[in-house]
Amino acid sequence: GTVVLAYSGGLDTSCILVWLKEQGYDVIAYLANIGQDEDFDAARKKAERLGAKKVFIEDLRAEFVEEFIWPSVQASAIYEDRYLLGTSIARPCIARRQVQIAQKECAQFVSHGATGKGNDQIRFELTCYALYPDVKVTPWSMDANLMHISHAPSDLYLMTKNPEQSPNTPDMLEMEFKSGKPIKVSHVTDGTTKDTPLEIFLYLNEVGGKHGVGRIDIVENRFIGMKSRGIYETPGGTILHHAHLDIEAFTMDREVRRIKQGLGIKFSELLYNGFWYSPECEYVRHCIAKSQENVEGKVQLSVFKGNVNILGRESPKSLYNEELVSMDVQGEYNPCDASGFIRINAVRCILRFNFVLSYRLR
Ligand code: ARG
Ligand code: SIN
Repeated sequence: GTVVLAYSGGLDTSCILVWLKEQGYDVIAYLANIGQDEDFDAARKKAERLGAKKVFIEDLRAEFVEEFIWPSVQASAIYEDRYLLGTSIARPCIARRQVQIAQKECAQFVSHGATGKGNDQIRFELTCYALYPDVKVTPWSMDANLMHISHAPSDLYLMTKNPEQSPNTPDMLEMEFKSGKPIKVSHVTDGTTKDTPLEIFLYLNEVGGKHGVGRIDIVENRFIGMKSRGIYETPGGTILHHAHLDIEAFTMDREVRRIKQGLGIKFSELLYNGFWYSPECEYVRHCIAKSQENVEGKVQLSVFKGNVNILGRESPKSLYNEELVSMDVQGEYNPCDASGFIRINAVRCILRFNFVLSYRLR
């Protein structure tokens, strides 16, 4: 049989390649470029030297940003209030292409190097089964990508500078959104402008990294039940998370936002647990995309000493009416209506007061 191995060029998957050959498989090595720092030519030669029949090196960076990171920005996806899901998001993107290669090459098997105790195995394999139900999975770890890097405790930081050693002057950016997706970033003083998804994201990584933005050290709950410690760097993703929250609050109806916030939590859990390709996740993504129709405009921000500071925003779809909130313009708002509104809202509180009083008197 033929097996498509998700190959990283590293020790683990090189051993798996050799082992699969020894078991009699024809091995197709598949290396996804999702923006990790890797010498892809060297990895190709290594795979060929180890006996791979064919080697596919696939540049997935643009589709990773557009189809996976952007929906996560729209959702304000964050796991257990802190983790921006940089590893989780890459898995369905990598596994989807692996399955496409397997189908094209008539391979019945796929293989990976994720450990048997973690989330990644679940994410890879669930994606494979959802997109190619008849596939057989043989027992795969690669992790760095253009959105983030995860480290085992005490590793070096690679994408971000230590904020204590970062520059003493901020960089000012203007982020532009349409339908909740970033469409342009401009540097306010040096004139740099980026307007394709991949370039925008890489540029935000550069500026965020320079100022030490997006480092976290957390203990999180894995899907299988155990807690694990993670150290993550997500510079560009962190800038986008804050900028998007700001333009969303400015342009979205309050009640839509409440529902959407709950959906964002649900989406994050589905993504973390490997269910990107599931009926419920497709439904939730559809609803979140709908909520983003009017999320557009520009956010001005500064990046400095590990922080993203929002400085201002403007939007043709703004729901903020400065005149209406002010004290001197009446608009649709009639102060006399407020008295009744407040008394109706007080009904429950008055009832409770009377109840507690009568109880005490007994
Ligand atoms: N704990 C994070 C997650 O589950 C990061 C995992 C990092 N994976 C790795 N193979 N090093 O999404
Ligand atoms: C994995 O999730 O597969 C890797 C272990 C972890 O950091 O959770």
